[in-house]
Amino acid sequence: MSLTPVLIGLGATVPPRVVDNEELSQRLGTDDHWIRTRTGITQRHWAGPKTATGDLAVTAAQRALRSAGGGRVDMLILATSTPDHPMPATAPDVAARLGLGPIAAFDISVACAGFVYALASAAGAIAAGIAERVLVIGADIWSTRLNPQDRNTAVIFGDGAGAAVLRAGEPGEPGALTGFDLGGDGALKDLALVPGGGSRQRSDPDGTGEADDYLTMRGKEIFTHAVHRMGESSAQLLKKVGWSASDVDWVAGHQANVRILHTVADLLEVDRARVLIHLDRVGNTSAASIPLALTDAAADGRLASGDRVLMTSFGGGLSWGSAALTWPPIQVSEVLV
Ligand code: UT7
Repeated sequence: MSLTPVLIGLGATVPPRVVDNEELSQRLGTDDHWIRTRTGITQRHWAGPKTATGDLAVTAAQRALRSAGGGRVDMLILATSTPDHPMPATAPDVAARLGLGPIAAFDISVACAGFVYALASAAGAIAAGIAERVLVIGADIWSTRLNPQDRNTAVIFGDGAGAAVLRAGEPGEPGALTGFDLGGDGALKDLALVPGGGSRQRSDPDGTGEADDYLTMRGKEIFTHAVHRMGESSAQLLKKVGWSASDVDWVAGHQANVRILHTVADLLEVDRARVLIHLDRVGNTSAASIPLALTDAAADGRLASGDRVLMTSFGGGLSWGSAALTWPPIQVSEVLV
């Protein structure tokens, strides 16, 4: 049996409510020009109070399964840091709502690097013969964890979900994921952190109403580490899979800030025009950002079968990861709300 993971389906979604820079500007003492020039973002989508991460995950997964032409899957991995509940994991509920039967389903929490880690976990399950077809989802709703007064975080994050279907296949096939590079540095966990709500620091322990479950982020430091780690991880991966910079048709990087993506491209000596940019319309959607960017580029025809795609991601943890993919001949619909 062949044991290389091959991408056969992709889908994504964002919630309907558009929050443009103008809307945030009045409240946060910022302006459209600052946000656009410092981040590249013009708008993001925020979920309404009745929408949970699992809801976006179900919609993205339905689209990915349709794109794969249907069929069963025998494992579901959901990358999210904003699950529906602290316990249980969101993935089994998503699997049940999708009617996938009693399959293995679990969450992984690797912040913005989650989708690449979930792909790597799926690759491991396929290589070990544990699963033949795996549904991988990256979904996050960070809008509920943003301090409404913190312009550092509020301007960059958006909500969304993206999903991919992988099957066991051959390394030479279009769609093959041929290599991964993963890493982390927990000594720097404070750079992006939700302090409360876990076992170390309970949310609102004294019942004062002052919960500390907002995301805190040291943006400038994160920026520097993101450039360094994504650049280094991508270079390691290219070496591992035997691609030179000129072999890379597209960089699908984590969509946190256009300046980070362009600097990583410069470090790798890949033309900036080869970097997929989707954050202008959806912001930083955390674990969903890479599948959302891929879906956007596949739907408008930029990604062609056989294109070599370098995925690279970075987020809280700190955690980072890269993956090499040859684009498959799949039908993908545009990102719809
Ligand atoms: O998803 C993975 C984790 N997150 C990231 O990868 C995010 C990485 N970081 C970033 O994208 C950027 O650091 C930010 C967009 C968060 C901030 O941009 P920056 O260019 O690094 O700004 P800064 O923090 O260096 O601040 C520069 C100035 C400061 O003013 P002073 O001290 O120079 O007077 C800030 O107070 O810009 C000010 N500032 C703002 N001004 C208007 C910071 N945020 C804003 C804002 N609007 N939203």
